[in-house]
Amino acid sequence: MQTAPLLPSTAPFHEEQIAALNRVISVTTAEQRAWLSGYLAGLQAANDPHAATPAAPPAKRAPLTILFGTESGNAEALAAQARKAAAKLGFAPKVVDMADFTPAQAAATENLLIVASTWGEGDPPQRAVDFYEALMADDAPRFEKTRFAVLALGDRAYAQFCEIGRKIDERLTALGGARITDRIECDLDFETPATGWIDTTLERLNAEVGGKDAGASVIHVDFARPGAEAPTRARPFEAEISEHVRLTGSRSTSDTHHIALSLEGSGIAYEPGDSLGVIPSNDPALADAVLKAAGLAGDTALRGALIDRLDITTLTSKQIEDFARETGTQAPPAEWAAGRQIIDLLETAPGKLSAEQLTALLRPLPPRYYSIASSRKAVGEEAHLLVAGLRYVSHGRARAGVASTDLTARHREGDKLKVFLRSNPHFRLPADNDRPIIMVGPGTGVAPFRGFLQEREATGAAGRNWLVFGHRNYLHDFLYQLELQDWLKSSLLTRLDVAFSRDQPEKRYVQNTLWDARADLYAWLKDGASLYVCGDANAMAKDVHAMLLRILADQGKQDEAGAKAELDAIRRDGRYLRDVY
Ligand SMILES: Cc1cc2nc3c(=O)[nH]c(=O)nc-3n(C[C@H](O)[C@H](O)[C@H](O)COP(=O)(O)OP(=O)(O)OC[C@H]3O[C@@H](n4cnc5c(N)ncnc54)[C@H](O)[C@@H]3O)c2cc1C
Ligand SMILES: Cc1cc2nc3c(=O)[nH]c(=O)nc-3n(C[C@H](O)[C@H](O)[C@H](O)COP(=O)(O)O)c2cc1C
Repeated sequence: MQTAPLLPSTAPFHEEQIAALNRVISVTTAEQRAWLSGYLAGLQAANDPHAATPAAPPAKRAPLTILFGTESGNAEALAAQARKAAAKLGFAPKVVDMADFTPAQAAATENLLIVASTWGEGDPPQRAVDFYEALMADDAPRFEKTRFAVLALGDRAYAQFCEIGRKIDERLTALGGARITDRIECDLDFETPATGWIDTTLERLNAEVGGKDAGASVIHVDFARPGAEAPTRARPFEAEISEHVRLTGSRSTSDTHHIALSLEGSGIAYEPGDSLGVIPSNDPALADAVLKAAGLAGDTALRGALIDRLDITTLTSKQIEDFARETGTQAPPAEWAAGRQIIDLLETAPGKLSAEQLTALLRPLPPRYYSIASSRKAVGEEAHLLVAGLRYVSHGRARAGVASTDLTARHREGDKLKVFLRSNPHFRLPADNDRPIIMVGPGTGVAPFRGFLQEREATGAAGRNWLVFGHRNYLHDFLYQLELQDWLKSSLLTRLDVAFSRDQPEKRYVQNTLWDARADLYAWLKDGASLYVCGDANAMAKDVHAMLLRILADQGKQDEAGAKAELDAIRRDGRYLRDVY
């Protein structure tokens, strides 16, 4: 049974009245609550003709369409936040995904807010590609009827910062749309600026078109749900690490760990396909080196902030400009940032910053996301993560990934980790348990598929399961080998294909395996299989995509355009899903 919504402490009653009402409400059914609210509203209206009538819809509420394009849910969450704020102002807001909308539909709206993120290297989120391409096409509709504003999401560490939001904003203006407010471009710490922008944009729109009909009065109640205080990025849950095991062998070139977290009491109810956000800490040794380079060694308060709160690795072109301005030095060109970090910049002009200047130069430390590698149906109140420690050398210096080395090298069993849920409703098992699935997950990309397989085993789903896994060496890097082989034996896994790139003279990757299995792959797709890809976005996902087009051309005996149309149709059908990073 669904839990009854309770009155919030802000309801216009005394504390004891709220407690008494909540005691009654908590044992009612949805039907009883609906009857009671209608009865009280009717009674009130009958006795007092001037009273507010929340049950009746206002006569005229300005429509507002909030359109989002997202890959990992941030834009969607902000669209939902904007919808709430708009409803409070009396608009009639509607949230839509670019995946389900066309530019023609957008051009027919009067008031339009767009929240769009940028992915890949300046690309639209995959499910927004059709909308975006149609908007950029020569035959795109005119937007003369439309007032609009764009909230762009991105990451300043990427050269094409907020590219998609910027292009959409410019395109809508070129097509005759009228801006409500200027576009905002948000970095990874988008919550505060995005909230401020949503509020001012809606207020401006409200002043122009009036969200609320003058005579109508709408009472908005934010119902508090017991236990609904799910952890967030700002208020994460401290999860205890119950298992911390290195999966790659000691002679492996990679350092990948299985980390089990206890979520007991967290209120985190994840689904396979979701990720956990992790709030990392920086390497204390790097924080000390940064302090030294800035000439601020010994500042313990600042040291704490550099470890827990500020991003001391990412280097953006904006920071290069800010540093040059603050220190009165010549800024190196923007390309200089590639492969370099803050410490390299500080060392170009050591000892020149105050603690305030250094703090102002640095971004807040962003969380990192890790696919959940388990199903609650199999592991209860735990979440499993699969984390590859990142280490590399650039410009002659050894570097380490912030979160992945924090998790793999500086955390042990029994330690606590700050986490929150990042739901990924667009990367889910098919609702139809009989549908076959093909999962392409090399390296840590196998993580969500372990969760999928646990879930399908627990639910007794009859659909066939095919996993394509890849890594470097069979002996050292076969992640979850025993489990996968057991699942093959039990027939939960119908098929397991592997590609170990360094086990033979010529490199072999998952896409080569797909090509070898192309006839079966095509047959599975024709049988309605859903195809999932997870893992590296830069090389693997692109290579797999290109190979899928080649396979569809070969097996469907069609040209490149035909293959693209077929893959697009599979994607639109919700059967080609990617979670790549
Ligand atoms: C939805 C999602 C799910 C994910 N799931 C997983 C998962 O299950 N397991 C997992 O391990 N990771 C996963 N990731 C990736 C993870 O979030 C982190 O990005 C990864 O662990 C690296 O983070 P870090 O803090 O260690 O590295 P950072 O400190 O963020 O460093 C990464 C940066 O280092 C630089 N860099 C990396 N290699 C080189 C090089 N060779 N030369 C020069 N520069 C380089 C790049 O600029 C790169 O952006 C996922 C990401 C997303 C978005
Ligand atoms: C693999 C990857 C590629 C990205 N590429 C870009 C980019 O080219 N430009 C940019 O500004 N942001 C880029 N980002 C950052 C995202 O836009 C940012 O995380 C945003 O908040 C995601 O919003 P969403 O969850 O709505 O998709 C990238 C992020 C990832 C993980």
